[in-house]
Amino acid sequence: MVLTREYGKRESPMQLLLVLSFLSFLRITPGAHAAPPSNFPSKIYGVNLGSWLVLEPWMLPNEWVTMGGEQCDDCLTCISTEFALAATYPDDVDERFAVHWSTWFTQDDVNNLQDAGINAVRIPLGYWIVEPLVNRVIEHYPRGGIKYLANGLDMLREAGIQVILDHHALPGVQSANQSFAGNCTLTPQFYTDYNYGRTLVWTAVMTFISHLHPQFGSVFSIEATNEPTMNATQTPGFGDFQKNFVRTVRAVEWLIGVDVPGCPALEGTPNAKNLYERLAQACATDTLGLFTPPVTEALNTSFHTLRYIARELEWKIDFTACQERQPITTNFMDILWQDDDPPNPSDAAIGPQAYDHHLYYSFGGVAAANPEAYLQNLCNRNDTQQDVVDGNAPVWYGEFSLATEFNATDEFLCKWADAQKLIYSQNAGWLFWSFKLESTNPLARQWSYFEGLERGYLTQDPSQLHDPDVCVPYKNSTASKRDSTVRKHPCGAHKHSNRFAH
Ligand SMILES: *[C@@H]1O[C@H](CO)[C@@H](O)[C@H](O)[C@H]1NC(C)=O
Ligand SMILES: *[C@@H]1O[C@H](CO)[C@@H](O)[C@H](O)[C@H]1NC(C)=O
Ligand SMILES: *[C@@H]1O[C@H](CO)[C@@H](O)[C@H](O)[C@H]1NC(C)=O
Ligand SMILES: *[C@@H]1O[C@H](CO)[C@@H](O)[C@H](O)[C@H]1NC(C)=O
Ligand SMILES: *[C@@H]1O[C@H](CO)[C@@H](O)[C@H](O)[C@H]1NC(C)=O
Ligand SMILES: *[C@@H]1O[C@H](CO)[C@@H](O)[C@H](O)[C@H]1NC(C)=O
Ligand SMILES: *[C@@H]1O[C@H](CO)[C@@H](O)[C@H](O)[C@H]1NC(C)=O
Repeated sequence: MVLTREYGKRESPMQLLLVLSFLSFLRITPGAHAAPPSNFPSKIYGVNLGSWLVLEPWMLPNEWVTMGGEQCDDCLTCISTEFALAATYPDDVDERFAVHWSTWFTQDDVNNLQDAGINAVRIPLGYWIVEPLVNRVIEHYPRGGIKYLANGLDMLREAGIQVILDHHALPGVQSANQSFAGNCTLTPQFYTDYNYGRTLVWTAVMTFISHLHPQFGSVFSIEATNEPTMNATQTPGFGDFQKNFVRTVRAVEWLIGVDVPGCPALEGTPNAKNLYERLAQACATDTLGLFTPPVTEALNTSFHTLRYIARELEWKIDFTACQERQPITTNFMDILWQDDDPPNPSDAAIGPQAYDHHLYYSFGGVAAANPEAYLQNLCNRNDTQQDVVDGNAPVWYGEFSLATEFNATDEFLCKWADAQKLIYSQNAGWLFWSFKLESTNPLARQWSYFEGLERGYLTQDPSQLHDPDVCVPYKNSTASKRDSTVRKHPCGAHKHSNRFAH
């Protein structure tokens, strides 16, 4: 991005205002704490729709076994991923998953989310939901998910719940040994030009459909990559990919007439036939440098991929449907996710962009494994402040849970829920992992939002806490007050009836 250094010297106040608003649109104003763009709630109180369209067997072990899966500690040694199940049951895997997709997330769940005051959800998706991207010779995944996604989005839209489409399981696999990546492998292959290219096609298709398909009207953000390999020296090209991800979103928006400041409006109305012409026209007048070779190639491929998806959805694309749409908020894991000199995703921003921080204590390495140490650590953390300093704002906590490395009491879990919600709502808000687990799963106590509500750990109104001062005794600066502030945590008083039958 090249901008003149001279702004503010000779311009009139109006020109200056325009330049400044352009700068703030680009989110490159140094040190600015950008307000969230208007297309998402000013504070997100959300949950993940985990295990719906990317299934993680640990969350629903009984159903997984019923589907034909297996349980094992090392995911390489049994049928523990969608890939492995699809490879084992090639003839009817689609039917097996159709049952899961239609029962794991339903209108009842949407009603419960609405009753619980949830205003946003993050939906983990695999690349295979855009079916033409799958190389069926060596890659095995179920087909048909896109219709369930469209129906689910429609229910969410009706309920006024806004949506982040989270590219959670990427082509080639982005993280080793993880069922959430769709395939369990020791050698992630996502970090190659081929797989970055497939991901850009996915991104283009999701951008088109989010703006044009009426059922996708609740989508405000698309997340590029869930939890990539943490060591940045093992993710070559990832910074360039991040830039091309944003360019792809903005390029699609430009082609279909969603306002992209800095891009002159293209003449004429887009339709399925003139997209190639418009692409050529846009490339020729590209002032923002959107159309790098990988982006141009991905767009060119995305047009027929989009038509394939439209046929699957029995949807006649109406290119005039998006005129009132706000640009998509592009979303990345924050810079704190990777180490070893990672690229800063804020370098990729063109237009509204937000960042996603994940924090789990249960996997170790964060704090000593006891209640005092957890609260001491959490209440004194500065991840949010560090993200703001790094230009990674607005930032939401896209995953967290109540899970611990020790056996937690009910009283501790009330505090643990309060303290996390308090610390994680300092910027754009939070999204719990996950909305539910299988009800017979003992892990549901600490990983299911609905069960946390039922047990009274989580407040009925997500913006509230049982005790807004939960962190006071643990703050280093106020630690001397500790003895005088120790008191019974008021959580137990808020227990309520079992509203969530599941
Ligand atoms: C993946 O699992 C294998 C076998 O359990 C282990 O040897 C390897 O270190 C793991 N790799 C990562 C990156 O976790
Ligand atoms: C999927 O995982 C299997 C088992 O680890 C591996 O052999 C295969 O190469 C992986 N395929 C892809 C496309 O990731
Ligand atoms: C990151 O990966 C590189 C290359 O594989 C390795 O040399 C380095 O030690 C790793 N860093 C950490 C913190 O594991
Ligand atoms: C799109 O791909 C077609 C071939 O499939 C090619 O003829 C055309 O030049 C490409 N357009 C752009 C803008 O790259
Ligand atoms: C956050 O804390 C770490 C040390 O724990 C420190 O290095 C860093 O500068 C702090 N960042 C901010 C923004 O305060
Ligand atoms: C938690 O409690 C269970 C059942 O009482 C016990 O088997 C387990 O060892 C305990 N775990 C820890 C970390 O204390
Ligand atoms: C707060 O106090 C704990 C325990 O004394 C210490 O480990 C931690 O580094 C302190 N954190 C900050 C941010 O000062």
